[in-house]
Amino acid sequence: MNLSIELIHENALKELDTVADAEGIKELYVRFLGRKGLITQFLRNISSLPEAQRPQAGKKANQTKKALDKAFKAALKKIEAGSADSGNRIDVSLPGRTAPRGSLHPITRITQRVCDIFLHLGFDIAEGPETETDYYNFEALNVPKFHPARDMQDTFYVSDNIVLRTQTSPMQIRVMEKQPPPVAIIAPGKVYRCDSDLTHTPMFHQVEGLLVDQNVSFGDLKGTLTAFVHQMFDDKISLRFRPSFFPFTEPSAEVDILCVMCRGKGCRVCSHSGWLEILGAGMVHPNVFGSVGYDTSRYTGFAFGMGIERIAMLKYGIDDIRKFFDNDLRFLRQF
Ligand code: FA5
Ligand code: MG
Repeated sequence: MNLSIELIHENALKELDTVADAEGIKELYVRFLGRKGLITQFLRNISSLPEAQRPQAGKKANQTKKALDKAFKAALKKIEAGSADSGNRIDVSLPGRTAPRGSLHPITRITQRVCDIFLHLGFDIAEGPETETDYYNFEALNVPKFHPARDMQDTFYVSDNIVLRTQTSPMQIRVMEKQPPPVAIIAPGKVYRCDSDLTHTPMFHQVEGLLVDQNVSFGDLKGTLTAFVHQMFDDKISLRFRPSFFPFTEPSAEVDILCVMCRGKGCRVCSHSGWLEILGAGMVHPNVFGSVGYDTSRYTGFAFGMGIERIAMLKYGIDDIRKFFDNDLRFLRQF
């Protein structure tokens, strides 16, 4: 026995200092405290010592054994805690977790597309209030009080004189009041009517169009709307101009598109007619020009108002208009 127990103890602690992983500590265990380890050997050799030294040496060896065992265990614990800790550390090299991105509502998409097409045709965009006075929503548009045409649109009244606009047509008046001809504008926005079924909702979107200049004819109206429909859908889509009535246009027409659900055979979406109405239009009535002081002997114009939801239904093949406003994410995520 040439190494003193003190020296063994000292060496063990020195080596422990240089070890950085659990594997290294386990190795020290084997070398010092294992069955063939240095301390174990020391204990075994005690019997060869002079009898008087044996108790003292045995005591010291057992103390060292306990002390080292404690030191090794503490070091192991520290290393294990450190590696658990590293699980919480931020790894800056990992790709980030991105926030889920929303997408545009189908109605917003269609509105933007409609605006794009008309901007390219040379129209400007005008915007106005959703609550309107009776004057702008009806009176100035040649719909006097008690005119039967007021029944065409089920109106939400805010007060006797104020309504939620039932159409974007009041924008015709607001724009013409502000500027002399020529005028070429579209006015997108929300409108409200007390109405709800497969093809009607109480709130929906219209885009108004107005063009006023010298020599504007019904032919210009037909050409403009046909160009629009062909760009919105495709060159081959069937559309028809059907004679109609609006107090603020004369003559008036409504434009239908062949129902994309049944391709004209007739289904519940098109009320079995084969066609779906997308807009109303006509030549601006002289009384409307009178409301804003335009010279009717010099200027003529056309106007139209289209339903955005109807166009979206046709474009995306949606069979119930109310789906646009149910806020069902499974529906909305498809666009
Ligand atoms: C009008 O609102 C007229 N202001 C259109 C107009 C403008 C005519 C300028 C002449 C000159 P109408 O009520 O038909 O017309 O509505 C126009 C379009 O809005 C309809 O063709 C339809 O596409 C859509 N629409 C009407 N009511 C609803 C509703 N409740 N829900 C969804 N879309 C509707
Ligand atoms: Mg109509």
